[in-house]
Parts: sequence; C-alpha cells; structure tokens
Amino acid sequence: MRTRREFVAGTTVAGLGVGLGGLPLTGCAVEGDEESRRTEGRQGEGDFQEVTRSAKPLRILILGGTGFLGPWQVEYALARGHVLTLFNRGRTGPDLFPEVETLLGDRAESDYASLAGRSWDAVIDNSANVAPWVMDSVQVLKDAAERYLFVSSISAHSDNSTIGQNEYGPVFTEEEYEEAMASGVSAGAAFGPHKAQAERETFRAFGERGIVVRPGLIVGPGDRSDRFTYWPVRIDRGGEVLAPGDGSDFAQIVDVRDMAAFMVHLVEQEASGTYNATGPEAPLTMAGMLYGIRAVTSTPVTFTWVDADFLREHRVGAWMEMPVWVYPDPENRGFSAYDCSKAMAAGLTFRPLADTARDTLNWWKAKPEAEQTLRTGLAPERERTILEAWHARNG
Ligand SMILES: NC(=O)c1ccc[n+]([C@@H]2O[C@H](COP(=O)([O-])OP(=O)(O)OC[C@H]3O[C@@H](n4cnc5c(N)ncnc54)[C@H](OP(=O)(O)O)[C@@H]3O)[C@@H](O)[C@H]2O)c1
Repeated sequence: MRTRREFVAGTTVAGLGVGLGGLPLTGCAVEGDEESRRTEGRQGEGDFQEVTRSAKPLRILILGGTGFLGPWQVEYALARGHVLTLFNRGRTGPDLFPEVETLLGDRAESDYASLAGRSWDAVIDNSANVAPWVMDSVQVLKDAAERYLFVSSISAHSDNSTIGQNEYGPVFTEEEYEEAMASGVSAGAAFGPHKAQAERETFRAFGERGIVVRPGLIVGPGDRSDRFTYWPVRIDRGGEVLAPGDGSDFAQIVDVRDMAAFMVHLVEQEASGTYNATGPEAPLTMAGMLYGIRAVTSTPVTFTWVDADFLREHRVGAWMEMPVWVYPDPENRGFSAYDCSKAMAAGLTFRPLADTARDTLNWWKAKPEAEQTLRTGLAPERERTILEAWHARNG
C-alpha cells in the first residue's frame, strides 16, 4: 500500500479532463493516530496542520474524493472534524483513506444503490463533468441531503469578452446544451454546456440549498495535468525560457488547497448560490507569475518573451503548450480576468504564489524519476527550435 506521503509525492493518471476540467489522480494513505494522519505527506507550509476543528461537525458525502481536488477536501474536512463518506467506483486511489467510509457506485451507470437509506448534512459533487450524472444524483439526494455543492467550472461562461466578469455573466443556455447533445459532439468538446446544465439541475432540485462553485485553473501538489506545474519545473531547469506574449496577458490560478478549504467552508456556512472562484486576489499577469515562480528557485534563468504572432506562426498551442496562457483575442479578453469578489467575500483566500510554486516543485521532485515527465508545456527541443528562429528573425 502506498503511503499518504507517496500520494502527495507521486500519483498515477486515471482519467481525462478537457478545457479547464481536471485530471483525476490516484494514491493512498497510511495508518496512524489523529495527529500523524493530519500531518503525513505534507509539503512544508501551506497544509492544514494549523486548522482548528469546527464547532459543528457535519456529515459530508463527497462524490469522488480520490483524484486531485477530492483528497485535499478530505484532508481539510477531516482536520475540521467532519465525518465523511466518499462515493466512487473504487478504482482511483482505493486505499487512499482507509479510515473514511467509501460507498461504491458508477455514475455512468446511474448506480446509486449504495446511497439508499442514508442521509447527510451536505454533498460535494466533484466527479461530474457531464450533466446527466447530476440530473440523476440530485434526484437521488435531494431528500437525503440538506445541501448540495456542485463543482462546476469557469468554463460554464459562454462569453469571455468582458474583463471582470462575475457569476452573473452569461453561461451556456439550456438550448445550447441541447444543441450540443443533439449534434453529437463529445462531452469534452461540450464541457462548458455540460457544466452550465449541471448547475441548473443542482438549483432545480436543491433550490436555495444548492451551491455552485466555478473554479478556474486549479493547481498545486498532486496536479497531474501539469497545466501550471510546467512553469516551476521549467524555470527550475534554468537557462533561456520561452515566455509567451509580452508578459502583460492575464493569468488566473487557484491553489488546490485553497479551493478545497473554500468548498468545505461554504457548506459549513450553509451558503447558497453561485461563486466564480479563481485567483489570486490582485490581478496577475504572465510576467508577474513567471517572475514570481523564478523567486523560489536559485537556478540562473532568463525569460525571452516571444510575441503571439510569432508563436502562432510556429503553431504553438495556447494553454497546453504554453500553460496558463491563451492568445490575446478581443473576443476572449475576459479570460483569466474573472471577478471573484463574491467568493472572496464568502471566505475564499489565497496563499502566496511562492508557496504554490515551491510546494508544486517539491512535490514534483519527490516523484520517482520515471514519473517526472511533463504532460503539458513545450518539449525542450521544440522550445529551443522556436527560440533559435526567434533570435534569427530579430538579429
Ligand atoms: N483541475 C482543474 O483545473 C479544474 C478546473 C475547473 C473545474 N474543475 C472540476 O473540479 C472537479 C474536481 O475533479 P477531481 O478529479 O480533482 O475530483 P476528485 O473527486 O478528486 O476525483 C474524481 C473522482 O471521481 C470518481 N469517479 C470517476 N468516474 C466515476 C464514475 N463513473 N462513477 C463514480 N465516481 C467516479 C473517481 O474515483 P473512481 O475512479 O474510483 O470512480 C475519483 O474519486 C471536476 O468536476 C472538474 O471538472 C477542475
């Protein structure tokens, strides 16, 4: 059995996310007393060791719980003294939390039999990236749970042309969802419409007892998508780093531990409604992010900012090849510039970028060497080729 330290240190991919969706992870846990259980496997500061117990322990059902975001929710909720039940297929990280009750079922088969006859104070639904799963689960749980928090995505927004868009900005409509379903596009291609529809299903069934959180890019230790990890790892490798655009493009990310704590906090507060949830608090640019990450390494490094047109000529893919970044586009200028003040007022806090960068890098370096292969970002040879072409053009 792998230890909880090993869960944080290295995990294996078990699924696929699209757009801003997540990549589930695996891992497992150690036996131990309360204190060691809480502190095992931590990456220095920025864990939940200092968390105080809630005055009112809740019974919380987590749909999922063993991928990337889920384990941090479990850790935080246990530290707060809540009593947890996980619901999943038992495939991803089945031994991760032996002390936590797990009920088995497959949402793709609408198999919720193991939930029958039970009740909870709150449900946190992580595992649904398609609306039909939520249509079913909210019906199963609407009389069995007081509150239902659906983990949506900022991708539910259908129009990103406005900087500072908040949760009341346009999302994909029911008609757009139905059109997507009728057209036969994949669930991945219709990620936003599915999330928007699942939000509606949550509120239809739970009304004011429903909570929707729309995270942006969730990053930090345990993230197997490498959609942020690329930058700390690349910068720590040193040398000339290709950086996209002129440095002024917006970047928004949220540390998985801050996201997990916020979601548990919302159910504790008996919150209601929708929250756009990404960070940091003050606007961040790509330059701010990359120089901020550079501050946690001592490797000599220089950034060469390569303009977007040149990157386009070389068919550099936004987001996956140049993580966190998208091509500047007036239609999309509100991307990575969402207004999350409602979530902040409700308790979303952000640890410093340096903590996220350092902990992500430490997590990466603690993985077995064979697992230290980046899934996103420019491959080293391709980065070099583009930089050489850029220098050749600019003399
Ligand atoms: N990562 C990001 O940047 C990002 C951004 C915005 C929104 N989000 C959203 O955040 C959520 C968190 O994802 P996560 O992977 O980190 O969550 P998680 O709860 O940590 O992991 C996913 C869980 O789903 C379970 N699962 C998968 N297929 C299942 C099925 N057919 N039936 C029942 N359970 C199933 C997995 O266990 P088994 O395999 O054992 O079933 C696993 O426990 C997702 O909704 C994602 O769209 C993520």
